[in-house]
Amino acid sequence: MIIGIPKERRVGELRVAASPDTAKRLIGQGHTVVVERGAGAGAAYTDDAYAASGAQLADTAAALGAEIVLKVQRPTADEIKAMKSGAVLVAMLAPLQHKDEVQAYAKAGVTAFAMELVPRITRAQTMDVLSSQANLAGYKAVLDAADYFGRAMPMMMTAAGTVAPARVLVMGAGVAGLQAIATARRLGGVVSATDVRFAAKEQVESLGATFLTVDLEAMKAMETAGGYAKEASEDFTRRQREHVTEALKKIDIVICTALIPGRKAPILITKEMVGVMRAGSVIVDLAVEQGGNVEGSKPDETVTTANGVAIIGHSNMPARIAVDASALYARNLFAFLGLIVGKDKALKIDEADEIVKASLLTRDGKVVHPQLAGA
Ligand code: NAI
Repeated sequence: MIIGIPKERRVGELRVAASPDTAKRLIGQGHTVVVERGAGAGAAYTDDAYAASGAQLADTAAALGAEIVLKVQRPTADEIKAMKSGAVLVAMLAPLQHKDEVQAYAKAGVTAFAMELVPRITRAQTMDVLSSQANLAGYKAVLDAADYFGRAMPMMMTAAGTVAPARVLVMGAGVAGLQAIATARRLGGVVSATDVRFAAKEQVESLGATFLTVDLEAMKAMETAGGYAKEASEDFTRRQREHVTEALKKIDIVICTALIPGRKAPILITKEMVGVMRAGSVIVDLAVEQGGNVEGSKPDETVTTANGVAIIGHSNMPARIAVDASALYARNLFAFLGLIVGKDKALKIDEADEIVKASLLTRDGKVVHPQLAGA
């Protein structure tokens, strides 16, 4: 099949959907890979590297006109227009937030798959873009905080005096949060963490961090069968905020990663809570694009409050570590293509397959996803 890799056009997106490595593997399977010139520039993949892997370098129209188009972000209206009817699109399409665009894929006759809807079952682990990207985002968030922080992270004993270690609080201990804990520990920080899921306690502690909670019993009922968090009750939220407010008086760096699937991110740190923190403290709000965990955080801005606390709000953290984020994302897509392209190199979209069923949005001019059909 002809597989197209266009350059990403959305502002700030530096990732690319295929690496020279995955291009080579696809070509090895007998496919033709068409890469738009400059598509890998943001991720340090040169045109020469793609050419060496056997890919064809081409213009925008050729990459978007392929039979299978691999992308990172949702296509723009112009990009959808440039796609062929009957083509397959695989990307992070955020379909629940952009239902009108799903209609546009159907209208254009595009068979669209949303990678973030791939279920987190064992068989799909290699295709799990949420994990591959969140893991790197958690790591980079700590580096961003450490960079902005005017003090050192590890304890240092010098002839001129002792530097105290930074105290780091990670809020939300999922994939991004656990990597943030591990990174902050490696940098020498003293780390604590909080979550609403009971299972998170053991994972946090196994990384050598302290778990902060107000009610372990209540937490047992706060996880869905799929392993995600449920929305916390008002009472739990109030008690959690009181507890965290006390902790924040001594915390230097906060990394917020808390999300609830399909909903606005929960506010974990109110303006009053930021108010108790010391000048020079840094908060990174990884949930900023979903509304934010911190009152006052702004997408793609660093806000400094009246009491001298910096709130960093990069809306696309994985793009800040674009080389590795692209390499892992490209591997995720390569694994996914193994599911929808048969050994005879033809499309084989089996709607009875659990992974296909969960991620397929449109087919044959119709919206077919159960959560979106008729929406
Ligand atoms: P996520 O990105 O949806 O949320 C991040 C974290 O925020 C979660 O740990 C969640 O419990 C927490 N959170 C939500 N509301 C909160 C609140 N009010 N206060 C504090 N924390 C709050 O979660 P992510 O990272 O996608 O992981 C979700 C689950 O999926 C985890 O249990 C993870 O271990 C599991 N998982 C399973 C995989 C597999 O089996 N293949 C792969 C990846 C993740």
